[in-house]
Amino acid sequence: MEILDLRHFSSADLRPLLEDEIAMWARLLSWDYATSAEMILRYMDAKILPGYAAIERGSIFGYSFFVYEQNKGVIGDLYVRDGGRSSDRHEIEERLLTHVIETLQQSPGIHRVEAQLLTHTTGEVSRPFLQQGFSRHPRVFMNFEIGRHRPTAPPLPPQFEIRPWSEQEYQSAAALITAAYRGHVDSEINDQYRTLTGSLRFLNNIVRFPGCGTFDPRGSFVVLERRTRTLIGLILCSQVRPDVGHITQVCVLPEYRSAGLGEAMLAASTKSLRDRGFRFISLTVTEANDRAIALYKRIGFESARVFDAFVWEG
Ligand SMILES: CC(C)(COP(=O)(O)OP(=O)(O)OC[C@H]1O[C@@H](n2cnc3c(N)ncnc32)[C@H](O)[C@@H]1OP(=O)(O)O)[C@@H](O)C(=O)NCCC(=O)NCCS
Repeated sequence: MEILDLRHFSSADLRPLLEDEIAMWARLLSWDYATSAEMILRYMDAKILPGYAAIERGSIFGYSFFVYEQNKGVIGDLYVRDGGRSSDRHEIEERLLTHVIETLQQSPGIHRVEAQLLTHTTGEVSRPFLQQGFSRHPRVFMNFEIGRHRPTAPPLPPQFEIRPWSEQEYQSAAALITAAYRGHVDSEINDQYRTLTGSLRFLNNIVRFPGCGTFDPRGSFVVLERRTRTLIGLILCSQVRPDVGHITQVCVLPEYRSAGLGEAMLAASTKSLRDRGFRFISLTVTEANDRAIALYKRIGFESARVFDAFVWEG
């Protein structure tokens, strides 16, 4: 077995492994990973996907890639085919990660590395991260089965108005995200939340690129305060399988919390998805975010898996 630079290979070399990985995403997370896989393969052929491949008898059976975002490296994926003993697989995962982490930490100008490995259970691949000085934030993947819950739409207090997401909302949505996550654990995990330009980049990734499913404008809403016309709440939804919606963002300005706006936005997304025949809704939430978890559980979301987010600041 050897570990080689991913850029030595083409999409044809990686495709069989990604087909396995697509099946795993479907099984573990009810998530159609095919669009992301196609994007990865395009980047492979353009020879612009940095990462490493585990090779045996000439074929790729494991890989990990990363992307550069200005001064930050983001580990995009880690997948090793289960070829028998899980201890072997685990060892190869750790070797790939060690290569990726060392490359990023030694890249000039890179001061920060982030990783969120949704398909790996918490603790499973933490060793190389912890050894290299990363902090670890467990996160929960939650699921909601639409058909098992009666539609409930708590009345919105009259001073507020909920309406569908529109592209005009871009700037004010970015300002809202920045304000909602000030001092929040999630802005430790994703530093985009800390600035307006970062939040705009986050929105662009969610709304315009297919990296996290396909943006679903009809399942996405904003809440305005009628008097001031300011945006005070936001919920964004993507389609990750024909019948599964994924909440990629939900936030309310601090001074407007605990008034039922979060619940009202979740109800609005749920109604839209239900009306269009979706069967499930998923989301991810940081384990330390007790209030958000309490809200999701009260509504009927159930924890399906716990995975880790890792962060390193050099
Ligand atoms: C999570 C978040 C979106 C919830 O929004 P919210 O508008 O406060 O949510 P709700 O008001 O519907 O429900 C939350 C709380 O209000 C209470 N509540 C709901 N309706 C209420 C009402 N009519 N009157 C008083 N309290 C109410 C709920 O019981 C719940 O209890 P809590 O006060 O102990 O938290 C908000 O806290 C937030 O923006 N947090 C920062 C960003 C974040 O963490 N997002 C989630 C990432 S996964």
